[in-house]
Amino acid sequence: MEDRNDKPEFWESAFSEKQEMWGFEPAKSAVVTKDLFVRESVKNVLIPGIGYGRNAQVFRDNSMAVTGIEISKTAIEMARKHYGTGMVIHHGSVTDMPFDNNKYNGIFCYALIHLLDSGERAKLIRDCYDQLAENGCMVFTVISKDAPTYGQGKQIGPDRYEMFGGVRMFFYDRASIHAEFDKAGLFEITEIEENYPFFLIKCRKGGSGTII
Ligand SMILES: C[S@@+](CC[C@H](N)C(=O)[O-])C[C@H]1O[C@@H](n2cnc3c(N)ncnc32)[C@H](O)[C@@H]1O
Repeated sequence: MEDRNDKPEFWESAFSEKQEMWGFEPAKSAVVTKDLFVRESVKNVLIPGIGYGRNAQVFRDNSMAVTGIEISKTAIEMARKHYGTGMVIHHGSVTDMPFDNNKYNGIFCYALIHLLDSGERAKLIRDCYDQLAENGCMVFTVISKDAPTYGQGKQIGPDRYEMFGGVRMFFYDRASIHAEFDKAGLFEITEIEENYPFFLIKCRKGGSGTII
């Protein structure tokens, strides 16, 4: 199938057709993560899969510098139009990280990792962890197996399905979160309702790395 979400064309046409498809309000997860990052005195944030930037502004409003990575050129142009040129946004796939040598105190990755296959997910977690400063926090929002779309479409791997419009998705539960994130300093898993039931996964580099 041509039109798959692991191809840049998929996201190019999605943003070209649907434009600002999630509106301008930040996701709940972004607000919760902003509160965590404020408590942690985070100064710089990396957002892989930044889209057109709706989740970036809440961090910038709290004096954090934001750097993004985004596969869609159209989304980057939209981010520039709405939020100005004050953010560095690297154009490319997270599978090609790192894009810079910076260390970030905070990384926020919303609804992206579940689009990747297992090797790409492991690499993204490793690459994000590598770009975290000591004591830095990274937060991932991922779709849950409780979503009504779980099990729909064609199964292409364990808990991974290809559904409407060529979207490929891996659905998480607590066991698969532990399996993938324990080694990356996982310290908290919470459930959060966005447009689907999601998990918010919080990891810290160094420290005790408490596992729940
Ligand atoms: C489900 S959307 C979430 C967008 C954004 N976080 C938001 O909610 O506003 C996934 C985003 O990741 C981008 N994306 C998908 N695959 C990517 C990849 N391999 N590398 C970088 N960005 C990617 C898409 O273009 C899209 O902007």
